[in-house]
Amino acid sequence: MKLLVTGGAGYVGSVCTAHLLDAGHDVTVLDDLSTGHRDAVPAGAAFVQGDVAVAAADVLADGYDGVLHFAARSLVGESVVDPAKYWHGNVVTSIALLDAVRAHRVPRLVFSSTAATYGEPETSPITEDSPTRPTNPYGATKLAIDHAITSYAAASGRELGAVSLRYFNVAGAHGAFGERHTTETHLIPLVLQVAAGTREQVAIYGDDWPTPDGTCVRDYIHVDDLADAHLRALDAAPAGEHLICNLGNGTGFSVLEVIEACRRVTGHPIPAAVAPRRAGDPAVLVASAARAHERLGWTPTRGDLDGIVADAWAFARSRVPA
Ligand code: UFG
Repeated sequence: MKLLVTGGAGYVGSVCTAHLLDAGHDVTVLDDLSTGHRDAVPAGAAFVQGDVAVAAADVLADGYDGVLHFAARSLVGESVVDPAKYWHGNVVTSIALLDAVRAHRVPRLVFSSTAATYGEPETSPITEDSPTRPTNPYGATKLAIDHAITSYAAASGRELGAVSLRYFNVAGAHGAFGERHTTETHLIPLVLQVAAGTREQVAIYGDDWPTPDGTCVRDYIHVDDLADAHLRALDAAPAGEHLICNLGNGTGFSVLEVIEACRRVTGHPIPAAVAPRRAGDPAVLVASAARAHERLGWTPTRGDLDGIVADAWAFARSRVPA
């Protein structure tokens, strides 16, 4: 297929691009490099540097079989402080992309949605029928885009089939492609910075949560499993419909369990200190991925936490100057 990947210079976008190229697809990456890196775009993909809202229509005029839309602002804390950056950067940009998709009759759209659309869950694991009550602007913008996609697909006269994939905690790396955020807020890369000697210790955001060891529980998913779901979503996009699927392993690990896994994998003692809770963190976020299994035929195969950490560690070490 001839595919446009927005945000293909970022973490998840670059890994998915690598998988798409391996599967024989013809890929063009569109990225403004505001947070992505030019050298993260896998060789073999065409690259257009530009604002998705401005450039997508021109690019899509060439005729495409599908769009995978990764480009987004994705820091929960920042979205609280600077919501305009998220409503413009995520919602306005995505509507412009949807208009371009409609104008050029692109038949498939795969969108990076998030567990943050659910907010604080009432039940665990979280299914796609769970209430969507985001607790921060980041989740609210992703949910707004999901709603827009539903209505565009329904009004497309079966021209557009769309799939939103709601990621839980993406981690790990695909060889040379991994997490390289300038502002790092995610647990595993932060813990590995301690092991790599670029950070002194890691903060544990609260040890008094209603969980077995008192620290927050999350569902960590290997970025390669995530990429596999995107390839399947391209084939499964239902004409005139919008399918929403959670992506997670269905197993939760606590912050302490993650730090322990990092100690096992790196052999480093990794000092950690309890700090106050981080605003907006739910205690437990675990996915039910039954729908992804049923509709996409997707079964994650890289759910082992030590394996996820080992790949992230190999990537982190490859980035630290010797
Ligand atoms: N944590 C720490 N110390 C740190 C960093 C994180 O204890 O230095 C904890 C957090 O409090 C949380 C867990 O580790 O309990 C995981 O935190 P991350 O920041 O790695 O991930 P989140 O669960 O906050 O966020 C992820 C995605 C978001 C998405 C969210 C859904 O990164 O994009 O899941 O709620 F919105």
